[in-house]
Amino acid sequence: MNSKKLEEKLKESKLGGGQNRIDAQHKKGKLTARERLELLLDSNSFEEIGGFVTHRSTNFGLEKTKFLGDGVVTGYGTVNGRMVYVYSQDFTVLGGSLAEAHAEKICKIMELAMKNGVPIIGLNDSGGARIQEGVVSLGGYADIFYNNTKASGVIPQLSAIMGPCAGGAVYSPALTDFIFMTKNTSYMFVTGPNVVKTVTNEEVTAEELGGAETHMVKSGVTHFACENELDTIENLKTLLSYIPQNCEEIPKNLSYEFQDEKRPQLDLTIPENPNQPYDVREIIHQLTDADSFFEVHKEFAENIVVGFSRLAGRSIGIIANQPAVLAGVLDVDASVKGARFVRFCDAFNIPLLVLEDVPGFLPGTDQEWNGIITNGAKLLYAFCEATVPRITVITRKAYGGAYDVMNSKHIGADMNFAWPTAEIAVMGAKGAAEIIFKKEILNSKNPEDKLKEKQDEYAAMFANPYNAASRGYVDEVILPSETREKLIKAFKISENKKTTIPKKKHGNIPL
Ligand code: HXC
Repeated sequence: MNSKKLEEKLKESKLGGGQNRIDAQHKKGKLTARERLELLLDSNSFEEIGGFVTHRSTNFGLEKTKFLGDGVVTGYGTVNGRMVYVYSQDFTVLGGSLAEAHAEKICKIMELAMKNGVPIIGLNDSGGARIQEGVVSLGGYADIFYNNTKASGVIPQLSAIMGPCAGGAVYSPALTDFIFMTKNTSYMFVTGPNVVKTVTNEEVTAEELGGAETHMVKSGVTHFACENELDTIENLKTLLSYIPQNCEEIPKNLSYEFQDEKRPQLDLTIPENPNQPYDVREIIHQLTDADSFFEVHKEFAENIVVGFSRLAGRSIGIIANQPAVLAGVLDVDASVKGARFVRFCDAFNIPLLVLEDVPGFLPGTDQEWNGIITNGAKLLYAFCEATVPRITVITRKAYGGAYDVMNSKHIGADMNFAWPTAEIAVMGAKGAAEIIFKKEILNSKNPEDKLKEKQDEYAAMFANPYNAASRGYVDEVILPSETREKLIKAFKISENKKTTIPKKKHGNIPL
């Protein structure tokens, strides 16, 4: 008798808001909360927690609409054999809206995840704060934000947005490490199109205002814009494979058989003309294990490329200037994108590889007025603070302040290599000659020829890696083709790296 009741309850708890609502969800091209968990987790690995929880509200007739689970499925399971805690909001129950009990369930698994040192994945699909429950809904969100912040840097936190995510609700995903959005069926905004129209008179659709493309290309809020829900879940799983369970572990190394690690193709990558662009991804693909590069923030601030990859089976984070976009210059968005990625890798013991080809910071009123000083400092701070093994390869330009910022020896890089094509100087030869030989050029019979002569003189002195190498700022000048081999050894020797940082409460990154 008792077990029959349990069976009935279990059946009821799995039904969500009922078949009609499940059908409606499917019609929108969306899966249900449980279907998503089935795709994410290894089969039969899910253990549910809190399946019988219901809300306690009697406001606005809510007592007549109690659903077991209160609109969120929580628990733990494995992804490719690795433990994760999960919550998956159920839009079929009161629009997945969040109130007291719903929030308590999420907080419970967040606390368990922290205590047990296990990543947490949130699948978000919610109409936001449950309007009928009033302030306890807001309080529930705040409890989650507090836990997100406590968990930051302790365990990886991943958020997938699989439907609406509006109002203050956006701040939980924003406090996590990575956001994945699904194109056309998910959106995030603080205020929706109606409020926007009322306040600013702008006409904008939900998709334009806060869809996956918008947050990938324009705002950088999302790290991944995925084609559909299946793609979103596959990307979540892929990311997990590069990261450890918590801040005290290192990512799992894949087994690797050493072969001929020379990559002759790399000797042909840098164009003869130093101003000709090339795609830094070609270098990344040659340097790292086959098909291992997993790019983050792919279409945001494309002048810098960041992502996870593997080198002889070891998980590494890559930050690379991209000469194919804006000549690889550092600007506000690129600095913030790079800084955030560096800090994630440092928090979770993922060594860093920097590929440097940067003409400097982007000049102009737009950049200055948008705070390139503060934002550029974020990238500088992030590198300075990072204690994971960090290695730089200067492939071509390393000019001005950007030379210092992009993981120079001076700010704690462990090894700095340069290719023979490296140019390491305060600025480009033409600009330098125009300043320091200004009078000589003006007073000469042929200023144009004089400028060229002085430019060549400056280039001969600095458009190479040897000055920096003679000072030890570059550890070794190496052939591009031997770089992979050098990197494998350099990361191996630094795998037990230990550094101490001055005792402090926390630093004050220039936010
Ligand atoms: C209670 C909600 C709800 C909510 C949706 N529902 N949102 N119930 N509280 N916040 C219910 C609906 O009443 C409906 O119930 C069911 O969920 C499905 O909603 P529909 O509107 O039919 O679905 P759809 O057309 O797909 O539209 C989805 C939606 C819309 C765009 C999310 O429901 C909507 O605009 N909801 C309100 C969003 C909102 O303003 N939330 C508060 C944000 S402020 P029935 O029974 O009729 O099917 C916020 C503050 C957080 O979240 C602050 C934290 C600090």
